[in-house]
Amino acid sequence: MSKNTHGATSALIQNAPAAASLREFSFSDEDFKGLAKLAYEHAGISLSDAKRNLVYSRLSRRLRVLQLQTFREYRELVANDAREIENFINSISTNHTKLFREDHHFDHLRSHVAAPYAQAGARAGSMRIWSAGCSSGEEPYTIAVVLKRELRSFHNRDVKILATDIDTEILTKAARGEFAPNATTDVPHGYQSFFKNIVVDGQEKVTVEDDVRSLITFRRLNLMERWPFRGLFDAIFCRNVMIYFDGPTKANLIERFANQIKPGGWLYIGHSESLTGNHPQLKPVGRTIYRKVG
Ligand SMILES: C[S@@+](CC[C@H](N)C(=O)[O-])C[C@H]1O[C@@H](n2cnc3c(N)ncnc32)[C@H](O)[C@@H]1O
Repeated sequence: MSKNTHGATSALIQNAPAAASLREFSFSDEDFKGLAKLAYEHAGISLSDAKRNLVYSRLSRRLRVLQLQTFREYRELVANDAREIENFINSISTNHTKLFREDHHFDHLRSHVAAPYAQAGARAGSMRIWSAGCSSGEEPYTIAVVLKRELRSFHNRDVKILATDIDTEILTKAARGEFAPNATTDVPHGYQSFFKNIVVDGQEKVTVEDDVRSLITFRRLNLMERWPFRGLFDAIFCRNVMIYFDGPTKANLIERFANQIKPGGWLYIGHSESLTGNHPQLKPVGRTIYRKVG
């Protein structure tokens, strides 16, 4: 089974019976703890015991590809090979996402960010939006069509969306911007026309127009590392990423996001995420939406 962007299959992997005796490779406590430590050190990802089967099944594929016999050999390899660290992180990251996921965020983006920007006309300056942890791109493409619907044309507009993820494989997919035909099922009626059907290698797909696509720049960025930004963002989307981090890692990230948003700008987080306590600069203004004050 390959790593996928669909929650249902991920859940199947996570709930698979332990079946340690049926395993192709022996997988000790020490192996799991060693790999969990690496995930934490390199990506901030906290792997609880409940993720043991998921880690086993995702990484077994790497062992087969590399023709290794044991997880112990894999641990030695990944600890000493930067290229394999990349494959390791790609394998363990969970990429579930969809177009217009948590659509109340996009209603808010339209009314509080895109519409005022459109109304400001030539007086409006630049608009910068960051999709942090963009996975296969459904989030930044959704942001892009919301902007397109309000602005109609990007001519003489300085609008850019930065979409970043730690997972290099998923970013390659994101940059293609091609989705399965049923990906638009939950796209609200008013946005359906921004997606068009295409055929790629004999397969039906949906995609967006080039002017929408060209708003987005995809880059690899590990949120745990230094961020190379010169300017601030009007809005940051970091949704369903912090659920993989522990408390101190989340708190530190929220602090860094607060410093990276323009005064009056917005932070959108995932449905099961929250800011711990009252943040002095990020005021809650709606369901999982925060505004930077001061
Ligand atoms: C579940 S997806 C969320 C996608 C999208 N934001 C959404 O809500 O639909 C989580 C993404 O976070 C990325 N991620 C995990 N740890 C990361 C890190 N340290 N730096 C950057 N991205 C990370 C994963 O690779 C994955 O693509």
